[in-house]
Amino acid sequence: MSYPSTARIVINADLPEATINRHLYGHFAEHLGRCIYGGFYVGEDSDIPNVRGIRSDVVEALRKIAIPNLRWPGGCFADEYHWRDGIGPRAERPRMINTNWGDIEENNHFGTHEFFDLCEMLGADAYVAGNVGSGTVQEMSDWVEYITRAGDSPMARLRRENGREEPWKVPFWGIGNEPWGCGGSMDPAHYAAEARRYATFCRDHGDNKLYRIAAGASDDDVAWTKALMEAISCFGCQKEPTNIYQGLSFHYYSALNMEHGARGSSTDFDEGEYYALMSKAQDVGRVIQTHKRVMDTYDPARKVGLVLDEWGTWWDVEPGTHPGFLYQQNTLRDALVAAVHFDQFHRHADRLIMANIAQTVNVLQAMILTDEQTGEMILTPTYHVFEMNRGHHDATAVHTRILDAPEARVAAGRRLEVASASASVKDGAMLVSLSNLDLDTPLEIVFDIRGASVADASGRLLAADTVHEHNSVGARDAVSPAPLPVEPHPAGAKVILPPHSFATVSFAVRP
Ligand code: AHR
Repeated sequence: MSYPSTARIVINADLPEATINRHLYGHFAEHLGRCIYGGFYVGEDSDIPNVRGIRSDVVEALRKIAIPNLRWPGGCFADEYHWRDGIGPRAERPRMINTNWGDIEENNHFGTHEFFDLCEMLGADAYVAGNVGSGTVQEMSDWVEYITRAGDSPMARLRRENGREEPWKVPFWGIGNEPWGCGGSMDPAHYAAEARRYATFCRDHGDNKLYRIAAGASDDDVAWTKALMEAISCFGCQKEPTNIYQGLSFHYYSALNMEHGARGSSTDFDEGEYYALMSKAQDVGRVIQTHKRVMDTYDPARKVGLVLDEWGTWWDVEPGTHPGFLYQQNTLRDALVAAVHFDQFHRHADRLIMANIAQTVNVLQAMILTDEQTGEMILTPTYHVFEMNRGHHDATAVHTRILDAPEARVAAGRRLEVASASASVKDGAMLVSLSNLDLDTPLEIVFDIRGASVADASGRLLAADTVHEHNSVGARDAVSPAPLPVEPHPAGAKVILPPHSFATVSFAVRP
């Protein structure tokens, strides 16, 4: 290992920024491959320990990272899902073909009741994505009534007949998904009009207040953001946006060759691919900023929320697995992608109110992988980033800058900061997240904390000998957190981050 380069992290504890909404740590579970079936849901007769068919080990692991919300049932699946097929006695539920994901039969055994049961077990808020592409306004409106209406009404009666007396709460409601593609191949103006119409009939029943989210752009395609903001604004007449939908979303995947099929292996990659990916991950900050700029034009008071409801890495499927199931391994590289995203999310928390990693179990950048044969579960390196960053949930971001960090070589002529960081304060504690993205050189980071006096530093490190390292049934903890020494330094404290590593350091903030 070569001699460390040194960077300084300046944290201005007296320059508070936005509150980091815990929903930035949200999740996504689609009827895709083995995410729902095998991942979350194994059925009541399974040998895998479960409660009403829902895996107990998966619930326990996700409770440890306090997942704040779960988006369901898609993704592309949402726009061909008809909710009435997923209620009532399971044996009698109609079947359908999941045309997006594997062209396989979906038996609808996991439906509305099972989803809300899962959310209750997880202690997570529900984020339901309704069907615009192949559904109707009436169908979506009825679903909202079925889930949220108390008292006597046609849909509340139907829910009761199916065994649930009390309504559930749904804070987040999605108006379709990817309307430019699998959600209906619409153009922005057409979809914006549809979003207004659908959102209008998604009613607030009783004290359930929906936060309606219109589906928007891929990456930085701001034509969607513009059309969706325009559709709820009275530009030039000094009025605030109307309250028809409260948020709008975009999707951003960190993948190489996204448009050209071969995305590369999840575990076998070279230095050039690694740095190109880290650059793509960091670029999420610019993409968020691009959407923010457009939204600020229409909504300077920042009433409308920006939601990144799909993000993460996207690799070729693991050899021998179904090409439509999007099952991929997860290395320390994926964990660093997550860490970089969270630093950017914290920086833009003044407009970005929610984000959902794609997807929680067995699909794309998963937190949890389950073995198809034995059913055993492993936690991925990405899971550990969520766990180590838990202290940022609902904390106040504080102004943070890294100075003097070296730059790494990078493909496509992009500049890559090898150090990424963010910090927040909550309940008398400061949490600092730090990444060293350099593949070869350790990075010494000296803390320069201003505007507060801190004590009792303790650190945790996620690192491995190679960035290709990942967890498997035979090596569950190949990548897992370990203590990180925080050493004294004339400026206060310092840590040394090995190459390709992520760390958190917490301090007590003295009043
Ligand atoms: O997460 C997998 C798919 O990616 C989703 O179904 C879709 O919305 C996106 O294209």
